[in-house]
Amino acid sequence: MSTSLTITRPDDWHLHLRDGAVLRAVLPETARDFSRAIIMPNLVPPVVTGAEAASYRDRILSALPEGMTFEPLMTLYLTEDTDPADVALAAESGLVKAVKLYPAGATTNSASGVRDFDRVRPVLEKMAEIGLPLCVHGEVTDAEIDIFDREAVFIDRVLDPVRRATPGLRVVMEHITTKDGIDYVKSNDADLGGTITTHHLIINRNHILVGGIKPHYYCLPVAKREEHRLALRAAATSGDARFFLGTDSAPHTDENKESCCGCAGCFTATNTMALLAQVFEEDEALDKLEAFASKNGPAFYRLPENDGTITLVKSDTPTDFPEKIETGEGPVTVFDPGYPVYWSVA
Ligand code: DOR
Ligand code: ZN
Repeated sequence: MSTSLTITRPDDWHLHLRDGAVLRAVLPETARDFSRAIIMPNLVPPVVTGAEAASYRDRILSALPEGMTFEPLMTLYLTEDTDPADVALAAESGLVKAVKLYPAGATTNSASGVRDFDRVRPVLEKMAEIGLPLCVHGEVTDAEIDIFDREAVFIDRVLDPVRRATPGLRVVMEHITTKDGIDYVKSNDADLGGTITTHHLIINRNHILVGGIKPHYYCLPVAKREEHRLALRAAATSGDARFFLGTDSAPHTDENKESCCGCAGCFTATNTMALLAQVFEEDEALDKLEAFASKNGPAFYRLPENDGTITLVKSDTPTDFPEKIETGEGPVTVFDPGYPVYWSVA
């Protein structure tokens, strides 16, 4: 028996590609199945200006193997010194498709992020004026807030006040991990969208901690309770245009993951579309996969849908995905859902 599903070629609305040897190793894993991706700017040092984004885009394009096509959709890393005019210029030239907000200290390479939101008000106002989306890492960083509550608290303390203070600002609440995040996106208007990762549809916090600590399941925002995972599944598989795929595929070498202070990030670029096909099939929603992976994102970003298609095939025998991707800086472990996956991209 074999089943197949052909959909418009998907895009990834949240992706970490890094730079140098790691970039060269991981880029083909995304470009194989995806036409475009929103590229995260949290390099060391971060991609802050339009000129830095142009140079990073050139490095990405030079790392693309011959015969592959891929369009990196660049973002700027918002700092308290970001110049609204530079952002506007980079957006108007078509180079930059979004600005990324990391609360300072929230995650990997976020030290240059925002502490005082009053200081970025002029940038946010300029973005509202020109319709440039703000991609938000939605977690507070206060030491007294429990890490499992940081997303929900961020909505009340930061996201909602910032949106109210900046009418017309278009916001993507990225990698939503809670029912609170899903409900917040649903209760708002078309200026607010939300991305959901592949791994948060598959794991809850038990997967990280039960039966021994599993560093390859640790990411930020950290996976929450099962009820939250189920809320994410319901939103992703509903076809609701406000929710779209942002894998947050985030390569770290095994040495940096399997450590006494391991880095946050799940690397899902290699098997994301196969995993999603299985998730959507389990939820009897295969007919909604195209909306989630290929249609809702372009609609939010006001970009055309891709021309091509990909075909997903289900077979009787489990698909063999590579366990690791070699990078030259060390191996990166591919996300393992912990069960056999019968889908693959033809
Ligand atoms: O798990 C994560 N990894 N979450 C982030 O927000 C950053 C990312 C990374 O850059 O590794
Ligand atoms: Zn990310």
